[in-house]
Amino acid sequence: MKFREEEIYETFLLRIQDQREGKNLKPWYVPWTLYFIVDKDEKVIWWSALRHYLTPELLIHWWHIWHGIKPSERWKWYATQALNLALLEAKKLDIDKVMLTCDKSNIASARTIVKNWWVLDSEYIHEWVMIQKRRINI
Ligand SMILES: CC(C)(COP(=O)(O)OP(=O)(O)OC[C@H]1O[C@@H](n2cnc3c(N)ncnc32)[C@H](O)[C@@H]1OP(=O)(O)O)[C@@H](O)C(=O)NCCC(=O)NCCS
Repeated sequence: MKFREEEIYETFLLRIQDQREGKNLKPWYVPWTLYFIVDKDEKVIWWSALRHYLTPELLIHWWHIWHGIKPSERWKWYATQALNLALLEAKKLDIDKVMLTCDKSNIASARTIVKNWWVLDSEYIHEWVMIQKRRINI
């Protein structure tokens, strides 16, 4: 898995290692870690990005956790369960109030979040899209 089309795998690994260690970050970025769940063939099923903390500026519109399921593996309740694994990792980083955002129209994401007892923190419009920010205390 890679986020940049032009990037080779080794460069991707170095980049996510740097990001985890807080090296070579853009000025307003904070360290973050990428997690994966793979199947028996080592193909990625789920991935999650976890920011180690949010600055007061980032807290306004940003999130700690972002995650996704491989399209062919959706609707199997994987995300609902995997989100709890991301929270365990957040706990290890001493994050006690975890924030997550999703488009209000993203029914699947909203269901996984609400089923895991996240509460609505705020709603705001970003680039013409209504965003819901939810939080959970861990
Ligand atoms: C959002 C996402 C992570 C959900 O993954 P998933 O593994 O399919 O979710 P689950 O199987 O755990 O389903 C959770 C709930 O959403 C429902 N659901 C799943 N996909 C849905 C869809 N396309 N439309 C409506 N409901 C949907 C499920 O039925 C389930 O509800 P239920 O328990 O009441 O039946 C996945 O769709 C995804 O990767 N989307 C793209 C990235 C993204 O939007 N990430 C979220 C940002 S925080």
